[in-house]
Amino acid sequence: MLESHLLIAANSSRVKSEKSARVQGMQYKIMIVVGARPNFMKAAPLIAALHNYNDCRERTRFGGTAACLGYVLVHTGQHYDGRMSGRFFEDLGLPPPNVNLGVGSKSHATQTAEIMQKFEPVLSQEQPNAVIVVGDVNSTLACSLVAAKTVFKPSDTRPLIVHVEAGLRSFDRLMPEECNRVVTDHLADMLFATENSGVTNLVKEGISKDRIYFVGNTMVDSLVASKERARHSTILGQLGLQSASNGNGCRTVPAPYAVLTLHRPSNVDNRDVFVNILDGLKDLIAQCPVIFPCHPRTSARIREFALEHYFVTNGHGSNAQSTRGINLIQPLGYLDFLCLMMHARLVVTDSGGVQEETTCLRVPCVTVRENTERPVTFTCGTNVIAGTKKDSIRKAVERQMQSTAIACTPDKWDGKAAARIVDAIALELQKRSAAGHSGIKSPCDLATADGPRDERASNSVPKNSGPARERLEL
Ligand code: UD1
Ligand code: UDP
Repeated sequence: MLESHLLIAANSSRVKSEKSARVQGMQYKIMIVVGARPNFMKAAPLIAALHNYNDCRERTRFGGTAACLGYVLVHTGQHYDGRMSGRFFEDLGLPPPNVNLGVGSKSHATQTAEIMQKFEPVLSQEQPNAVIVVGDVNSTLACSLVAAKTVFKPSDTRPLIVHVEAGLRSFDRLMPEECNRVVTDHLADMLFATENSGVTNLVKEGISKDRIYFVGNTMVDSLVASKERARHSTILGQLGLQSASNGNGCRTVPAPYAVLTLHRPSNVDNRDVFVNILDGLKDLIAQCPVIFPCHPRTSARIREFALEHYFVTNGHGSNAQSTRGINLIQPLGYLDFLCLMMHARLVVTDSGGVQEETTCLRVPCVTVRENTERPVTFTCGTNVIAGTKKDSIRKAVERQMQSTAIACTPDKWDGKAAARIVDAIALELQKRSAAGHSGIKSPCDLATADGPRDERASNSVPKNSGPARERLEL
């Protein structure tokens, strides 16, 4: 709590002192955009890393004048319920957003357009040197598109566009997120990849290696930072999952249970697909309770398709262990959900983030999708891609329930991704300042796959910029 207050105080005083919008000299303003649930876990470590960067005197280690990185947090309001948004600010110690665009739920086109419309004046008013967008939601696409087309006066520049979690590809353009990823990556100036496949995909798509950084995963940074606190969650007790003795009667240990999350439109917006998935879990239900913190999209479909009979809805405080079935509960806060995952025998999901978190926690995961944009979770981690047919799900569940496979932690998933990102942004802004302006002024400012930056930009790279680049490693 104290940590969260400090962040809030630091952030609001910083914003006040930068009211004049454009930051002078070696002071830079970074705008961070969040909108939907998974964005909060990806953005929180970036804010912590910005504070650390500013606090760290060692930042002069590259020989340059130390930069000061202020930030403005913009929430688009794509997610707005306490359980989908507010709770995560508490759990992650995030400061309240400086601006909330309050967009809410709409069709894709209307939601994206409304975010763009409401984001544009905020961007013009604040004139940040960089805009960081994370992940692949509509807010990510909308704000990067606005940033790409903006022109600040009188400098005639636009902000640097930074995409965190760049390069992931499911190669399925029917997924709204895939469209968002592809467009955002092709608009971004700095692309931070979470896994090697991301770097490979971006290079194949013709994006210059100069703009791609393999840094690890900020969602994993949040997990590393929150794991200990999550252990103190009382959620297992609340769900009646802590009733088994450890054998000597001294202490209770979690009873075996599985966790389910489902919210992809391709899985839950089509009744037949949804029913197939639920039928594929019948053997699992016979073995242990399944806890299902249900996304609001999915709750709405359960009602619309009259699927209530597939679930038990005792809620918190009941004994899930003695109530076999799919226990439908409200979406959980981050710490409670982490606690639930880390003690689970198995997680069945269609979430992108949950595939990564189970890999880190070494909990077997069955992904009910035909593909994943996160292949490292099955090449290195605990994930199995089951498809959405009941038989393939049943087999994957059976295999994973008996799994003794030893997973490894993917490269650079070490809790330090955000620090790498902030170092790289600071360096890039300093290089650009040395070239005369910290924003993007013309197409020549951008490295392309066909050639290097223009003479002006490449000549301006300080000779002492080596160490950071080496540390980032392509
Ligand atoms: C969005 C993202 C998806 C991400 C997911 C994380 C896009 C295209 N999709 O999907 O990539 O995996 O968030 O959870 O950006 N709703 C509420 N309260 C809320 C938010 C939503 O009731 O706070 C309900 C509304 O009925 C809404 C529906 O959920 O229509 C879907 O919300 P929306 O943000 O459109 O998409 P998600 O399915 O949440
Ligand atoms: N999560 C949570 N509570 C829940 C379900 C998920 O805190 O009830 C967290 C989960 O730990 C992960 C993130 O939400 O950090 C994943 O978000 P989501 O599945 O909504 O989106 P996706 O990753 O599929 O885009």
